[in-house]
Amino acid sequence: MEQQLSRIIDELYNLEVQPQVSRPAAEFGDYATNIALQLAKQVGKNPREIAEEIAAKLRETGAFSEVTIAGPGFINVRVSGSSLARELQAEWSDAYGTNQDGAGKTVVVEYPSPNMAKPYSVGHLRTGNQGWAVKQLMEATGWTVITDNHLGDYGAPLGMWIAGFLNFGSEEALNKDGVYELGRVYIAMRKALKEEAERGETTLADQVQGWLLKYENGDAEAKAYSDRFNEISLKHIHDVMNRMHISTNYELGEAFFAPKGKEAVKKLLETGVAVQNEDGSVIVPLDDYGFDVPLLVQKSNGAALYATTDLATILYREEHWHPDRVIYAVGAEQQFYFSQLFAMAKKLGITTELIHLWFGFIDQLNEDGTREKMSSRKGVVLMEELLDQAEEKARAVIKGRDVSEEDIKKIALGAIKFSDFVADRRTNILFNWDTIFALTGVSGPYVQYAAVRVNKLLRDHGYGMPYVGTYDYASEKDVLAKLLEYPEVVRRAANELEPHKVANYLYELARELNRYYEATPIATAELVEEIRHARLGVLAKAAHVFTHGLGLLGIEVPSQM
Ligand code: ARG
Repeated sequence: MEQQLSRIIDELYNLEVQPQVSRPAAEFGDYATNIALQLAKQVGKNPREIAEEIAAKLRETGAFSEVTIAGPGFINVRVSGSSLARELQAEWSDAYGTNQDGAGKTVVVEYPSPNMAKPYSVGHLRTGNQGWAVKQLMEATGWTVITDNHLGDYGAPLGMWIAGFLNFGSEEALNKDGVYELGRVYIAMRKALKEEAERGETTLADQVQGWLLKYENGDAEAKAYSDRFNEISLKHIHDVMNRMHISTNYELGEAFFAPKGKEAVKKLLETGVAVQNEDGSVIVPLDDYGFDVPLLVQKSNGAALYATTDLATILYREEHWHPDRVIYAVGAEQQFYFSQLFAMAKKLGITTELIHLWFGFIDQLNEDGTREKMSSRKGVVLMEELLDQAEEKARAVIKGRDVSEEDIKKIALGAIKFSDFVADRRTNILFNWDTIFALTGVSGPYVQYAAVRVNKLLRDHGYGMPYVGTYDYASEKDVLAKLLEYPEVVRRAANELEPHKVANYLYELARELNRYYEATPIATAELVEEIRHARLGVLAKAAHVFTHGLGLLGIEVPSQM
């Protein structure tokens, strides 16, 4: 109905709008919209009159069994199950849910961009998860998508690693624990540096700088350490990403961009966009772009900074990929930084749409019931441990039923991922194992189970005919209406970069189906063959939507659970 409304409004008033349709109380109708009230000002007519005009057009479509106007201009419509079934059949294809809104346009999506110095922690759960889902949404809406993992592999870590390893690490531990040993020496090193600084000493700090300098001057030993540590860390990142079922086309990290960034800073100085301070540091003033604080793009000692690498990253992507849009999946902490970075890009004349896709924190409940950001204080929460624990929980959920290891992994990952999508991405989410695996609430397992159940019904009873013209589809009305919403849900989720909308929709679809099963026999032997086929035909479409929608979220449907 939303699509029909926007077409009608375009026809009547030459306006492009995205009308919202609600489901009113049953006595009013199946759908309602207050679009006439919203349009009154723009169109310059009274809402009632507009409602009459729209209603007349809606009646012309023949898709509604009743179109009425209530109050100052609410439009209520009733539909018949069979008209919904006909509509769904007409719109149906293997690509149902997708569109071509982004055709001809290129988007770079950057995720999960973890830092190499530490083991992968929950700090990069949302960047990977939401980044991947947004990438899926862009693809589903016709964009050409390039994905890039912007590794945090530059600067202090290397010096800290080498000096830390030599002071606090051991070959044996490195061979056994890999990145966890690197993480440990890194943390030990940070602590020691802090204590040393408090004592006014610089022995360790000098070692760190020394190794960095050696590395920059091409010293073979420093390079050997760097290669070895990077390999260990990168393999770990890949392992975790594989377990999360996410991947990227490119992996161009900060280290790749650092030298390019220094070159770029030189050019900015030449053109006067950047200014050198007396101490040698370089800034890009942004007061002309509404920022009192300039962006620091080079340290006084000439070293590249985070912003230096990002400057080069922007230029590189422009030159090589010509994107229409770049999406950075990075936590909320960096909002100010990105707003400055994007202002700098504007100042450089770059018109590409740059978007910081940010997230709220993952909170955790303390024993006393208070909430706290999940991480550091209780020791970093490691992604691998989180996934291991999730698999344990998944095992408990299926309670000894005969479910394959592969399915257990799908349930575990589905539960974690879905929990990230239960609210608007900017909302802080509360990490709670009980709700994550709740079989009755808004959870991954709940939706997966609904999908598994549909698939099983289809497996056991045949897929039915796609559409049965003589059946009235009266008991399927709500399910059909829900299925018809799907393409619009995908469109909105993509437009707003909100995978949450898809998750929420899938939950509603699951609930709708559960209501349907309670009231309606599907495969009992007494059913007339035609009805059985019609019903299974609707379920086959639901199965498609579950698989597709969960796929957008990076979640798979287990074969059993
Ligand atoms: N590695 C960084 C972090 O974890 C995120 C990188 C974000 N991307 C960027 N182009 N700056 O904080």
